[in-house]
Amino acid sequence: HHAKMIVDKDFVISTIDDRIYGSFIEHLGRAVYGGIYEPGHPSADERGFRKDVLSLIQDLRVPIIRYPGGNFVSGYDWKDGVGPKDKRPSRLELAWRTIEPNQFGLNEFVDWSRVAGTDIMWAINLGTHGIDEARNILEYANHTSGSYWSDLRISHGYKQPHAIKTWCLGNEMDGPWQIGHKTAVEYGRIACESAKVMKWVDPTIELVACGSSSRGMLTYPEWESTVLDHTYEHVEFLSMHNYYGNHENDTATFLGRSLEMEDFIKSVAATCDYIKAKKRSKKTMYLSFDEWNVWFHSNEADKKIEPWQIAPPQLEDIYTMEDALVVGCLLIALLKNSDRVRMACLAQLVNVIAPIMTENGGQAWAQTIYYPYMHASVYGRGQALVPLVQSPKYDTKAITDIPYLETIAVYNEQAGEVTVFAVNRDLNNSLPLEVDLRSFGECRIIEHSVLENEDLKATNSSVQPNRVKPHSNGNAKADGSKINAVLGKASWNVIRIN
Ligand code: AHR
Repeated sequence: HHAKMIVDKDFVISTIDDRIYGSFIEHLGRAVYGGIYEPGHPSADERGFRKDVLSLIQDLRVPIIRYPGGNFVSGYDWKDGVGPKDKRPSRLELAWRTIEPNQFGLNEFVDWSRVAGTDIMWAINLGTHGIDEARNILEYANHTSGSYWSDLRISHGYKQPHAIKTWCLGNEMDGPWQIGHKTAVEYGRIACESAKVMKWVDPTIELVACGSSSRGMLTYPEWESTVLDHTYEHVEFLSMHNYYGNHENDTATFLGRSLEMEDFIKSVAATCDYIKAKKRSKKTMYLSFDEWNVWFHSNEADKKIEPWQIAPPQLEDIYTMEDALVVGCLLIALLKNSDRVRMACLAQLVNVIAPIMTENGGQAWAQTIYYPYMHASVYGRGQALVPLVQSPKYDTKAITDIPYLETIAVYNEQAGEVTVFAVNRDLNNSLPLEVDLRSFGECRIIEHSVLENEDLKATNSSVQPNRVKPHSNGNAKADGSKINAVLGKASWNVIRIN
């Protein structure tokens, strides 16, 4: 019972696009109000931005954040959220059945994102809006001056254009739950026509078309094929979404779900390449996995929330140690496919299925899943190396051939560092691992951090914010160009080497 990986600096999957470590903030629950924005909170700045939350986000080095939805965006009028705050309307928000007070909108998010040190992936409304609003919001955001919408932005106090580069053409338009749900042909047409006018307004933008809402959708992968038939030459990315849960309390299967994520990515990439061939195109379609995470803990509680409240506690999953292992496996799955997946968003960032939790008026803390996300974002920059892995495997009823070892190495040439990310999926036994770094010469261990806990259901809370937290007492040792480590049962490992 042991595992081995060989990596070589010449066998490169990709130069990882940093945006693979993106995240997502929707006007949903307490993500915005009581999350990133809470005027009057002891740590809020003069604009109402919570500095305790900002500091946790800055440590994650989040490169890009998708905003403002999500299902929310398909009924959202962006104009409600700009201009003097006392003139902004409160609206019935139909996706999550709340009241949206519109005290935070486009310009506030741009200001906030600058402080957070992140780029923006703006999703437009293609549920109740269409081509006109698509070009208007882009003119408002990105056009210099001398036109109605750009001058309106200037009158709102923003002389410089926002230069938002990445735009999503709607959200989950294949989902019957979506406001303005469409067939693949209906969506393909409006996405194509919106894309055309948006690029006439600003040719420097990048566009993301909606793929399926999950691998389980009945219209997948026909949806991808039809949508790309209409949009292929007008967009740069196709989106993917998928959430994972452990409703049956079958942890061995839950830990294997990242294999399904990889299968999903490969099938969507194949569908893109099929349309590429059909169109005799030279262009490769890239993937934006812009919603992924564990989501299931809060499902029952959400059914009991009364409608028409402002910022009720929706989708507040409290994450366990085992969820952090799954998030680690999903991150590795994204890295293994980083030749096609160029953007990805952990959904979401604050309070709503999120690595960061807050109390209204109180403290902010990191959930278990914060740590693998932070490790990957901070140390997983550079080149993803092909993982040649030998590992014992196991079967469950739902998934077969799950390797106990899930791993990848990232080479950061600038820093002269290799980082090995590794999950031991074995719930009962530790796993000896040998990593052969034959092309790197003499190696030295900088640090071996481990996230593990005797109780797989252990969580963090405002009372015990540090119950699940990584330690640096991992046992990795270097011997020439080989690294040996014994990975603890059910553990997430980050071995940094130079
Ligand atoms: O992230 C929560 C929701 O999940 C999003 O609003 C929607 O796009 C998806 O169904």
